[in-house]
Amino acid sequence: MHKDIESIVYSEQVLADRIAELGKQISEDYKGKKLIVVGVMKGANVFVADLIRNMDLDIVLDFIVVSSYGASTESTGVIRLLKDLDENIDSEHVLIVEDIIDSGLTLEYLVNNFETRHPESIRICTLLNKVERRKVDMKVDYIGFQVPDEFIVGYGIDYAERYRNLPYVGILKRSVYE
Ligand code: PRP
Repeated sequence: MHKDIESIVYSEQVLADRIAELGKQISEDYKGKKLIVVGVMKGANVFVADLIRNMDLDIVLDFIVVSSYGASTESTGVIRLLKDLDENIDSEHVLIVEDIIDSGLTLEYLVNNFETRHPESIRICTLLNKVERRKVDMKVDYIGFQVPDEFIVGYGIDYAERYRNLPYVGILKRSVYE
């Protein structure tokens, strides 16, 4: 385990098993349909790579880059769109893939933004859902895990751009950010 990690919340195996289940469920729900999978960078990078390999579907992979945090521990609520979609989503089924939903402000921004482009449908898939911190109501269609309000990193999730490469999700030691 990395020296800055207090404890592991979801091990590599636990993540792999749950992502296989999510991929199967999504594949059943979109059977016979074309799906545009949108990874929200950078955090969802690792998750979306594993998730799509568990999808038995005709998918198109796209990415959008947004940022809300800066190098602090709290969401600022200010969403910056750094890179837009490459794909035209008019009349398409869109699945937005996130690593974590915290306040919900990022997804609220994205869903509102995408809706102006008239997709056939928009659904949301997140690996981790931190409902305790939610500021805006939203329907989340696919959830890997309900995560407690701890300072977690790994499997794509960073603190000041570090720890994204950890293969597990773990709690960061307080001494690292205090
Ligand atoms: C994180 C995460 C989500 C968002 C969730 O991204 O990947 O996109 O914050 O927080 P919210 O529900 O409070 O909006 P971040 O802005 O840290 O950028 P990153 O994906 O590059 O790590």
